[in-house]
Amino acid sequence: MNTKTIREKIGLLIDETSGKTLAEEGAIRHIGVDAEKNLVILVIALHKTGGENEEKLRREIARIVKLDLGYSGLKIQFEEKRKLESIVNRDVRFIVVTSGKGGVGKSTVAVNLAYALTKLDKTAAIIDADIYGSSVPAMLEIPLEYPKATADQKIVPFRRFGIELMSTAFFTEPGKPVIWRGPMLHQMLETFFYQVAWNKHLDFMIIDAPPGTGDVTLDLKNIVPTAEAIVVTTPHLAASDVATKAGIAARQLRQNVIGVVENMAYLENPQTGERDYIFGQGGGETVAEKLGCELIAQIPLQQPENHLAIYEPDEPNGKKFIELASYVIACGNYHII
Ligand SMILES: Nc1ncnc2c1ncn2[C@@H]1O[C@H](COP(=O)(O)OP(=O)(O)O)[C@@H](O)[C@H]1O
Ligand SMILES: [Mg+2]
Repeated sequence: MNTKTIREKIGLLIDETSGKTLAEEGAIRHIGVDAEKNLVILVIALHKTGGENEEKLRREIARIVKLDLGYSGLKIQFEEKRKLESIVNRDVRFIVVTSGKGGVGKSTVAVNLAYALTKLDKTAAIIDADIYGSSVPAMLEIPLEYPKATADQKIVPFRRFGIELMSTAFFTEPGKPVIWRGPMLHQMLETFFYQVAWNKHLDFMIIDAPPGTGDVTLDLKNIVPTAEAIVVTTPHLAASDVATKAGIAARQLRQNVIGVVENMAYLENPQTGERDYIFGQGGGETVAEKLGCELIAQIPLQQPENHLAIYEPDEPNGKKFIELASYVIACGNYHII
């Protein structure tokens, strides 16, 4: 028995939300057979998941797989078509930049990592998920305007410095505080993942997470189970303690922690090269040790020369971010199971 027989038989079933057969809809996205366990694994894309239709299909598929074809087990995952067509199902690496604490340079790292990736011929986009402390549009020098829509009603992302961006800030009136509650926030994130016409050849999606380890991080987990994380801290103990917690939360959500970035590590005298450790020393190393991962960058305090927040690769901090981006590219992605 092979997957072809399974495909043929299941293909005849009808998805009542569209009135077409699963074969006509191209709904059968994956068929796997675990010979050892005599188990069939299916991924089926429906127009709309849930409800009576899904239940009915589940029963009919179980009847075919178990009774007609004699397998002892069946695992079905139903997904909505729009989700399958979104970036979530493409070969994109999702990297959450997290810190626990605000003001440590999370957005600075997110933006400059994305920029350095583009300098290394990768395509990168940013989702600004720091709803209450959104700063990425300003850092990329993008004025706050309502986004445009494509012909098929997808949201057009903003683009600057070769980086695509979507932020809740584009949906609020400038200067007005954000008052979205949990469910609305969740909806907003879903919208960013499924309804934005992101570059079809995106390599990296950088997510600027809000401080803390709350709702948004969990929401992200539900949408992108394979996200990786970079933990940002300053050398100060107060920041590193919270950053460790953020890292542990990422671990609990089974995100692969790529490493720790220590920002505002020191101030260097351009004449003498002498380093002043204004915020103390050791925060980055401590967090890395506690999380069992590497300290992958130490970024000194420095004003960007040409832009508001972006360092060009020929500036000292620009070089640091190119090194960080190279590291991120090289470490590849693996998932903790
Ligand atoms: N390495 C750095 N050198 C100089 N200024 C920095 C550096 N990193 C961050 N900043 C500045 O510190 C402030 C906080 O950084 P930001 O990236 O907004 O932090 P977060 O996103 O964690 O709240 C910003 O004004 C930013 O421009
Ligand atoms: Mg920020």
